[in-house]
Amino acid sequence: MTMRRQVTILGSTGSIGKSALDVVRHYPDRFDVVGLAAHSNVELLAKQVREFKPEHVAVADAEAGLRLASLLPGTHVAAGAGALESIAAAPADIVLCGMVGACGLRPVLSAIDAGNAIALANKEPLVMAGALIMERAKANGVRVIPVDSEHNAIFQCLHGHRIEDVRCIHLTASGGPFYGRPRESLAGVTPGQATRHPTWDMGAKISVDSATLMNKGLEVVEAMWLFGLPLEKIEVVIHPQSIVHSLVEFTDGSILAHLGPTNMKFPIQYALTWPDRVPEPMGRLDLTAMRELTFAKPDFSEFPCLAYALEAARTGGTAPAILNAANECAVEAFCNGSIDFLRISDVVREVLDDCEASPDVTLETVLDADRAARARAGHVMAGLGV
Ligand SMILES: NC(=O)c1ccc[n+]([C@@H]2O[C@H](COP(=O)([O-])OP(=O)(O)OC[C@H]3O[C@@H](n4cnc5c(N)ncnc54)[C@H](OP(=O)(O)O)[C@@H]3O)[C@@H](O)[C@H]2O)c1
Repeated sequence: MTMRRQVTILGSTGSIGKSALDVVRHYPDRFDVVGLAAHSNVELLAKQVREFKPEHVAVADAEAGLRLASLLPGTHVAAGAGALESIAAAPADIVLCGMVGACGLRPVLSAIDAGNAIALANKEPLVMAGALIMERAKANGVRVIPVDSEHNAIFQCLHGHRIEDVRCIHLTASGGPFYGRPRESLAGVTPGQATRHPTWDMGAKISVDSATLMNKGLEVVEAMWLFGLPLEKIEVVIHPQSIVHSLVEFTDGSILAHLGPTNMKFPIQYALTWPDRVPEPMGRLDLTAMRELTFAKPDFSEFPCLAYALEAARTGGTAPAILNAANECAVEAFCNGSIDFLRISDVVREVLDDCEASPDVTLETVLDADRAARARAGHVMAGLGV
């Protein structure tokens, strides 16, 4: 008999959160949802609460908390600063972190401090403070299971192998909606065009990050921390079909690849049921329907954000936190129409040049770096007329 798992889902109203609830919905005998949290989409969250009846409900936005409470009479709603941290720490077998951006840092740490296992989709906290998160996870005996499809693939390929035997990992990247287009032709592309991903259906921020390839840069840093690998052992390879989710190359020349359908429910399900494998309800990959699988080197001059992320990873300390904050600000400005697509990388470049990274990674240094980089990004964008 399988043990029921108590699951908390942070960011339940987003793309990852909704997919996670679909997985849970499919296995009512395996999971109990004990916590749901979002930012401000109270209509959807209220619907989810009525369906899954979690003990704990939280929204990060205080005003949204009042609206949610009026939609759910009799339900205790935690709201405002600190609400996600407390729900992350409530007893659960696993906390799926599916919120977007730096806002996830404190809740991720809070879940770890409480001893709750983590299924991690929210990559930005690991980029900002990977050393801190992984040290605390180790100290608390907490497992961090990757949900990002590439890292979930590597996690699966590494099973039963020694990390010392890894020559390198190959992180696959689809190349995003603009792959193959010359950079000059991207001036004036709209948020609608940038978020129309060719192979994945995702939230706005990660879709824009995929279009600039910043997403792959963030994933390189994510992989360094999740697997304890140096930057030199992480390669990025463009694979437009998004069928091979990543590969591990061993010192003896063997390469193990993970293939699967382009659907985030697969890695989410694996993370939530690990180490069990349960029958998939989502359709198999038809090998004979595949026409080609291609792999190419990324062009760093076409995708400067990828180069900047690798540079920040090489610098270390709080440099990735600075990069992340600058990128979050620039992507938000692009999405609300304030800056051109091509200015995203310019903003990141300027902020990286202007903000000095600290070699120490503590919660304080990381939050200071995040704040300083956001302020600097504001100035840089003001200079662009924003
Ligand atoms: N989508 C994918 O396929 C995919 C794949 C791999 C990795 N990831 C990673 O997973 C994370 C989530 O991505 P997504 O595409 O699911 O994003 P999304 O669709 O934009 O959803 C974001 C979720 O986070 C919540 N949120 C936003 N700001 C918040 C705040 N300040 N405090 C608390 N909650 C907040 C949102 O709540 P409201 O709805 O109330 O605003 C929503 O539930 C990202 O880090 C992304 O890089 C995503």
